[in-house]
Amino acid sequence: MQAIAPVLLGTPGDPSFSRHSGAPRSRAWRSATRQRSAIETFSGNVARLGDLRHARSADRAAVLDLLQALSPAIDPSPMSVVSASYGRVVLAARDDWTLAAIVLANGQQTHPHDHDGWGAVVTVQGLERDRRYRLDRQGGLELIAERDYPPGSGYIFGPADIHQPIGADPHRLTVALHFLVHRAVSGQAKPETSHGLDRGQTS
Ligand SMILES: [Fe+2]
Repeated sequence: MQAIAPVLLGTPGDPSFSRHSGAPRSRAWRSATRQRSAIETFSGNVARLGDLRHARSADRAAVLDLLQALSPAIDPSPMSVVSASYGRVVLAARDDWTLAAIVLANGQQTHPHDHDGWGAVVTVQGLERDRRYRLDRQGGLELIAERDYPPGSGYIFGPADIHQPIGADPHRLTVALHFLVHRAVSGQAKPETSHGLDRGQTS
């Protein structure tokens, strides 16, 4: 039987080198590969939690933990704000959930909004400021809470929660992972880009 030579990391033959040219892979290639692998691991772990639409608080907290574990593998460097408001990069989409990176320059913000399902957010870079609102008796929005989330920290929101992410880092773009559970399987969660609330409130 022919012996199989071990592949030494950092030498031609390991995945860090091109199989065609033998040249070292670029940093961008290695970063993208690491990110893709980490997202697949995240997806597998989320799938093991079962039906997320009726997830208990412990399972929601478990998803937040998984997002925190995933966040160091996310490379924010190619992400940018593509509009006057903010950027949204979909990293993974399944029948029952979507994972997107929301990119905010300092001072940029989404409109206050709710979602069809619950979700969780973890900051990757910068500082995401999350504002929470409730409807007052006149149907307007009343600010009830505001909290800053540095890299590695995050929060959970329920389907009825009204929130507003804001970029709050004056030195760099804020990038945060936003995990959204769809209300119906094969449906689409209402993303950050859906301005306004179901009730017609936009600000
Ligand atoms: Fe949101």
